[in-house]
Amino acid sequence: MPLVNTKEMFKKAYEGGYAIGAFNVNNMEIVQGIVEACKELNSPVILQVSGSARKYAHHKYLYNMVQAAVEETGLPIALHLDHGSSFELCKDCIDGGFTSVMIDGSHLDYEENVALTRQVVEYAHARGVTVEGELGQLAGVEDEVSVEADKANYTDPDQVLDFVTRTGVDSLAIAIGTSHGAFKFKPGQKPQLRFDILQEVMDRLPGFPIVLHGASSVMPEYVATVNQYGGQMADAIGIPEDMLRKAASMAVCKINVDSDLRLALTAGIRKHLAENPTHFDPRQYLGDGRANITAVVSHKIQNVLGSANQA
Ligand code: G3H
Ligand code: 13P
Ligand code: ZN
Repeated sequence: MPLVNTKEMFKKAYEGGYAIGAFNVNNMEIVQGIVEACKELNSPVILQVSGSARKYAHHKYLYNMVQAAVEETGLPIALHLDHGSSFELCKDCIDGGFTSVMIDGSHLDYEENVALTRQVVEYAHARGVTVEGELGQLAGVEDEVSVEADKANYTDPDQVLDFVTRTGVDSLAIAIGTSHGAFKFKPGQKPQLRFDILQEVMDRLPGFPIVLHGASSVMPEYVATVNQYGGQMADAIGIPEDMLRKAASMAVCKINVDSDLRLALTAGIRKHLAENPTHFDPRQYLGDGRANITAVVSHKIQNVLGSANQA
């Protein structure tokens, strides 16, 4: 099976009450670690590449590593541009074989977001590529926000039908309280997601796939390992898994995870080098990091996403 777009994946996920994991990839060990778990559990997956990952590893390397994963596993895999910042970047990725792109116009004013997203959709759909748009901005980790100001960051359910109809997007990322990075809540702050907003969005867009960014749970065992071997991440806090499971059983069909992979890889490498100070063969310490990535993705598929045996 060649690379697929997200259309069929999301249709099945919505109907089945589960979500597809969208994992950020930056190098070979991350790609291999993720697909190893997906293969074992027969799970579809989205491998996503940010603009900065593309600068770091280069389009052709990432594209061909993901092609190798497709050949090696036979799984339905979508190659997705994460947080596309311009029409030109989306076009480059579409022309270069990506099967899905995100155009992130969430920081623009509403009409500009609609116009830019529409432009990407027209180019993408003519080439069989699916498009994710975004409405509402994720909370920043440092924000000292009152409830009123905080509310302004959430997606406004009154805009979603107009946005989806006028742009033609295939999925929509919304802001309901998740945030990017490993420090999503202040120490002592109670993690909360606005399921009322998600429900209102579902009421206005029945059957339409919703995306959650900033959805790492910042798994405590890897935070602990990183800290044990010299890291300084004691205050790292993520989204509780039961909330993510609930979202996956609702309209959320794509759950984005990057920080958990970064933590797991770093924990494996730190531990390996601390325990084996004479080692200098990258295959040894990167191998431990890669094994941790597989363990994280396997855990997510079984405990958060519910996508096992859905390939
Ligand atoms: O949402 C952003 C992703 O975590 C990608 O981050 O731009 O550092 O690759 P990055
Ligand atoms: P995390 O930082 O929570 O892993 O979110 C990643 C993400 O949203 C990528 O687009
Ligand atoms: Zn994101």
